[in-house]
Amino acid sequence: MAHGGVNCEDSELVRRALFKAVLAGSGGARVSCLSGVEEAIKVLEDDPMFNAGYGSVLNRLGEVEMDAAIMDGTGNRLGIVAGIAGVEHPISVARRLLEKGDAVFLAGTGALRFARESGFAPPSRDLRSPEQREVWEAIRANEGRYPPGVDPFTGFTMCRPGPSRPGKFPCDTVGCIVMDDQYRIACGTSTGGYAYKPPGRIGDSAVPGAGFWAGTWGAVVCSGKGEAFMELLLARRVEEWLKDGLSPQQAAEKAIEVLQAEKGVIGGVLVLHRDGRWGKASNAMTFPAAVARDGKVDFLSKVDKGWPPEASR
Ligand code: GLY
Repeated sequence: MAHGGVNCEDSELVRRALFKAVLAGSGGARVSCLSGVEEAIKVLEDDPMFNAGYGSVLNRLGEVEMDAAIMDGTGNRLGIVAGIAGVEHPISVARRLLEKGDAVFLAGTGALRFARESGFAPPSRDLRSPEQREVWEAIRANEGRYPPGVDPFTGFTMCRPGPSRPGKFPCDTVGCIVMDDQYRIACGTSTGGYAYKPPGRIGDSAVPGAGFWAGTWGAVVCSGKGEAFMELLLARRVEEWLKDGLSPQQAAEKAIEVLQAEKGVIGGVLVLHRDGRWGKASNAMTFPAAVARDGKVDFLSKVDKGWPPEASR
């Protein structure tokens, strides 16, 4: 399962991209969970609709600085890169870090050095998409304030659920959870952070237990105001709630209630229980996600509840 972030346009374009991502990530027994997560997220990093990889939002200096993480819930293994520039697929660098094991978390120039030493070439294209350059120019021209309607997470004009607005690609942080047929789970995140962020700012997508977590009871990936997720350590708490017996849907909804009550910001939470049930909740306008299960892909809009339906739990 994969999400395209909060306030991500709920359109056919986004659905197709999420379908493509979850199909790339689902290979049944042939693909390890970690490979599934990496492959799914690479699809979204390549797509300028999403605030990850190519098409990431730009910081105050007009640069791309990305965070990505991957976590294996079975072995509690972890790889994280933060504030990295100069690589096309930060999720793959995080994966390499997880496999290599000398460190689990590298930031900035150290992360880039590790990437180059591991054979990751400079990007084949400038990661600053024309759309994000336009957004950056608009914020700068407005003396660093978001022009009316611009959404910090997507960098674009706030989208309304409804018809696509061609030419604009408003999506946020991406996240993915994969479970294999042995019930092993892994999760991953990738993001450019928020538009016009201060250089060096690192968000929850790089902080285990904040914007993502994969543990014994399940996995969680989040989108939204990273500072709030970090201060609340929300993803880790969701796993605790699963352990306490909440359904994944109840745990996802509780996370959003806490986020709303304690921080008053928007966010989205996608949860997969180790038994295969999932939940999804958000207080944003949209939080689209897709789930591939038994070779079938379903698209989940903001109003979708978890699986199986509440009545049958
Ligand atoms: N949730 C992504 C970020 O705040 O960086």
